Amino acid sequence: MRSEASVKATDYATDGRTRRGVLARYAELLPLTASTPHLSLGEGDTPLLAAPRLAEWIGVNDLHLKYEGANPTGSFKDRGMVVAVAKAIEAGSTTIICASTGNTSASAAAYAARAGIRAVVLLPAGNVARGKLAQAVVAGATVIMLDCNFDGALDVARKLARDYRVALVNSVNPHRIAGQKTGAFEICDELGDAPDVVALPVGNGGNVTAYASGFATYRTLNRASHTPIFIGAQAAGAAPLVLGAPVLNPETVATAIRIGNPASWDSAVSAVTDSGGCFVAIPDDAILEAYHKVVEMEGVFCEPASAAGIAALRTQVRSGAIGPSLSAVCILTGNGLKDPDRATPESFNPGSIAADASTIAASLGFVGR
Ligand code: F0G
Repeated sequence: MRSEASVKATDYATDGRTRRGVLARYAELLPLTASTPHLSLGEGDTPLLAAPRLAEWIGVNDLHLKYEGANPTGSFKDRGMVVAVAKAIEAGSTTIICASTGNTSASAAAYAARAGIRAVVLLPAGNVARGKLAQAVVAGATVIMLDCNFDGALDVARKLARDYRVALVNSVNPHRIAGQKTGAFEICDELGDAPDVVALPVGNGGNVTAYASGFATYRTLNRASHTPIFIGAQAAGAAPLVLGAPVLNPETVATAIRIGNPASWDSAVSAVTDSGGCFVAIPDDAILEAYHKVVEMEGVFCEPASAAGIAALRTQVRSGAIGPSLSAVCILTGNGLKDPDRATPESFNPGSIAADASTIAASLGFVGR
């Protein structure tokens, strides 16, 4: 039987629009009550794209890309943030706080603005992609740069939330995980079952925890016949879960996953090892190779961290750990536009020429009609 809350939230969704947001779409599977506000920026319902050319490069027959860069603030964080902010408001909070490598802060800032509450974001100075910083600033968040990495910033955010009346919206907040499970729900709803393999980048460990939990929920509900094998991609310079020990000074071009001591360490390890999968350390050059391949071959522009999952899947297929006949989904966690400095080097300057059609046609080798 449906709870009063889910009926209410579902009613809200029956106006015929798509992109009605995850609270409305998955109300009965989320921790909502009658007094949870109906917050939405139209998150979720992201494209699941068949990727035949990239599949060939990786060496699998059946590959889909879950393009989370199509979320309202351009990353998967929106799925969990909408739940965390709605629940914070329900509990009476008027200020939310998070530490972030960038995407969490962009999402927190947007949902706080939408809900009319205050967001405070703590960022590792000098290591946040420009687009993400811009998003937090324009949405009116209080942005504080700290002289430490993400791990240090999360420590401070936790202390502030413990001692003061502010709600922590990092993925240690279980409502974030609950919302991020909807990514797994959507994949099963669209494919009709779980895929055999899911590859995704792992930083703080929240998302892989959420996906494992989401597929497990669908398995229990008989909406999936099995749960997938998880491949957790870490950057080689920030690979605590591969090394089995925290990394004091994590370094990688994939700043989103520049994390040395994941807060969801234990749940990330169980998610991956219980699935029969593993964590893989990907060098920066392989991350950037995958970053270019996915947009050149499929037109899908993701940020470097997201490409780590593609590179990790390829590594596992090449080593024989993953068979070519298995169906695979790569979670492309963030939009490439967030990190424009990575897309075009500082030296990039295409120059310009005279605006003359026939000279341009000649230089391009165009054939006349
Ligand atoms: N991909 C992107 C684009 C991310 O921004 C993050 C995390 C991850 C993957 C890893 O997910 O932490 O749940 O294992 N970004 C966080 C942030 C840390 O602050 O935006 P995770």
